[in-house]
Formats: sequence, C-alpha cells, structure tokens
Amino acid sequence: MSAPTPEQLHDVRLHVNGSVHEVQVPARRLLSDALRHDCGLTGTHVGCEHGVCGACTILVDGRPVRSCLMLAVSAVDSEITTVEGLTEADGSLSPVQQAFSDCHGLQCGFCTPGFLTTITAGLAENPDPTEDEAREMVAGNLCRCTGYQNIVKSVLRAADIERERGLEARSARTSTSDGEEDA
Ligand code: FES
Ligand code: FES
Repeated sequence: MSAPTPEQLHDVRLHVNGSVHEVQVPARRLLSDALRHDCGLTGTHVGCEHGVCGACTILVDGRPVRSCLMLAVSAVDSEITTVEGLTEADGSLSPVQQAFSDCHGLQCGFCTPGFLTTITAGLAENPDPTEDEAREMVAGNLCRCTGYQNIVKSVLRAADIERERGLEARSARTSTSDGEEDA
C-alpha cells in the first residue's frame, strides 16, 4: 500500500492586529484555526464551527465575520482584528472591554471574545443604540451563562464610555491649542 500524499501547504501572509504573520497552511485551514494554531492568538474561541454561536467572531476590515466560516487563504488581503487587538494603543481596555468589566458582562468568558468584537463593530455603526438596538446588536451571539441582561447593559455602558472618552480627547485637544495660542 502506498503512503498517503502529504497535503499541499500554501504560504499565506495574514495581517492581524497590525502585525504580519507568515504561515504555511493547507487550503482547507479555517481562519479560526489559523489564528489560534498558526498565529498563536488563542483569544478567538471556537464553539460550534458552524457559524451559529458567534464565539469565533473577528473583525475583517472592520466588519464582524465568523472566522470558522472563512478560509485562511482567503484572508490574505484583509486587515484582521482579533480580541487581542481591541485594547487601546497604551494597553488600556477598550470602551467595550471596560464596559464588560464594569457591568459584569461575562461569567465563564467563553463567548466573550465574540461579543467584544461584535459590539465593537456594532457601536462603530450605531454609536448611540437604544436598549432594543443593543439587544439586536448581540442577537447573533450565543451565551450559555449570563442570560444576556448584563451584556445588553455592557453595550449601553460601552457607548457611554466611548462618548466620555471622545469628550475628554476633544477637551485635551482644545486646551493644548489654547496653550499654543497663549505661548
Ligand atoms: S465557532 Fe464560529 S460561529 Fe460558532
Ligand atoms: S459567559 Fe459563559 S458562555 Fe457566555
């Protein structure tokens, strides 16, 4: 009996969280598996692998995508953001991450990376959601623990934090330019 032919590997360059990852993967490698196993970014969780639970949600060019439904080889020209890439440039928590902490938006945490990425994209599109819109924003993600109440509160709190940070940044810019004019 002849030995099985080794699977052909493809050189793929993935742009993830501002870094380049050169990986060698078979054509059938799911993007979720490439991120976890080839890039070492295990923050992206894999639940159903059928596009149902949303745990594997990442941002591809800013849009939420189920990484279990995308092949790594088809992500070469895209900017990918995983949960590891959501933190601010200074390493502090993003508004959505801070809101989950403030509102106890998680229990076991398995679903949390998918919620964080989904809500980040949702608030970029609708920065001032009503409670109903917040529920709709997370309707495609499953959580087995929380009952969703604190996740919805987290969406609304994240919107508040984004507004507060925007105001702070604007007032810092204004005082800097006032100082420059006085000098
Ligand atoms: S693991 Fe991708 S949607 Fe569930
Ligand atoms: S916190 Fe456990 S599944 Fe959502």
